[in-house]
Amino acid sequence: MNAPALTPEDRQKLDDLYARLSAMRDKNIGYPCNQEFDYSELFRFLQFSVNNVGDPFSGSNYRMNTQDFEREVVAEFAEFAQAKANDWWGYVTSGGTEGNMYGLYVGRETYPEGICYFSEDTHYSVAKILRLQHTRSLMLKSQPNGEMDYEDLRESLRIHRDAPPIIFANIGTTMKGAIDNLLTIRSILNELSISKAYVHADAALSGMILPFVEDAQPWNFAAGADSISISGHKMLGSPIPCGVILARKKHVERVSRSIEYIGALDTTIAGSRSAIAPLFLWYRLHTLGHDGLRHTVNGCLERAEYAVDKLCAIGINAWRHKNSVTVVFPKPPESIMRKWILAPNQDICHLIVMPHVSRSIIDAFVDDFASAMNEPYNTSLQ
Ligand SMILES: Cc1ncc(COP(=O)(O)O)c(C=O)c1O
Repeated sequence: MNAPALTPEDRQKLDDLYARLSAMRDKNIGYPCNQEFDYSELFRFLQFSVNNVGDPFSGSNYRMNTQDFEREVVAEFAEFAQAKANDWWGYVTSGGTEGNMYGLYVGRETYPEGICYFSEDTHYSVAKILRLQHTRSLMLKSQPNGEMDYEDLRESLRIHRDAPPIIFANIGTTMKGAIDNLLTIRSILNELSISKAYVHADAALSGMILPFVEDAQPWNFAAGADSISISGHKMLGSPIPCGVILARKKHVERVSRSIEYIGALDTTIAGSRSAIAPLFLWYRLHTLGHDGLRHTVNGCLERAEYAVDKLCAIGINAWRHKNSVTVVFPKPPESIMRKWILAPNQDICHLIVMPHVSRSIIDAFVDDFASAMNEPYNTSLQ
């Protein structure tokens, strides 16, 4: 059978889309999506209907999969997150949201009567996940810098001592890049003699930054996490949204079920899962290597500092957290919001210095910002 052909109009539509996306790439500075990668060596794999259905570690009847590559990817992430040997499990998810859903699901299965605590700076999807799961929850106050208010955590835990806590910690909040300190959280639990507790770490972006810096904030399994979700399409970069969830093995055993039809353990949330995304992540990890990753991450951090300096130099009150590529500043005037792809939240906005955000892109943005300063807007941060 001849391959079906597109009409000239449809072909034009695709060409228009290509032109539109190409023009936008350099303007995409507000979302943590690395635009700098080349997966052309993998394009030949797009001709197969591959599928990683089931647990990547249990094998599956659907053998057109890339689970051997997936296991390598997950093992590398486990090393980045300082998981103890033989005490971890994980899989490649469809993104940070699925990873957080998994962590909260395992937390809830571990403590069905538990209460989930999360700060008001937490990603919007978390409240939805908790509603879906019917998990009791309490939103905590945040400090002005975006970090969890530990006093509010302490007080809330004290009041609800009868229910085991499931703590949702942000390792890099969406808007301000703030990191909730896992050691502080664990010490509050100890202080209150709460022995039954589950801690999930949402390390969507910073989970691929902190393993490569000299002086990382406590964020990983060594600091007391029970599960960690990290996005793949953020710092590593991928045209298919993806991520990795890691959890301590003993927790996962609680949710595992054996399914005859797929010949696999049903430990994952999704049934059919991308077999291409793990291949992309594997390729990226293997072409960059640890030195390449360290170089990429530290380059982003240096340029983030450069962006803070440049914005401050034109009178914009910009700042960032230690080890964060998220540069926070007051929401710019409308003309800037139209020209650049930025993510505002109330009166603040941020620039996220990903690998494709070069010094020349930062310069162009700051020049535009400086020219627009005669338009009405508020330069001070609330
Ligand atoms: C802190 C944080 N958690 C979770 C998510 C959700 O991740 P995803 O969009 O990969 O589902 C994001 C997305 O930006 C995020 O910033």
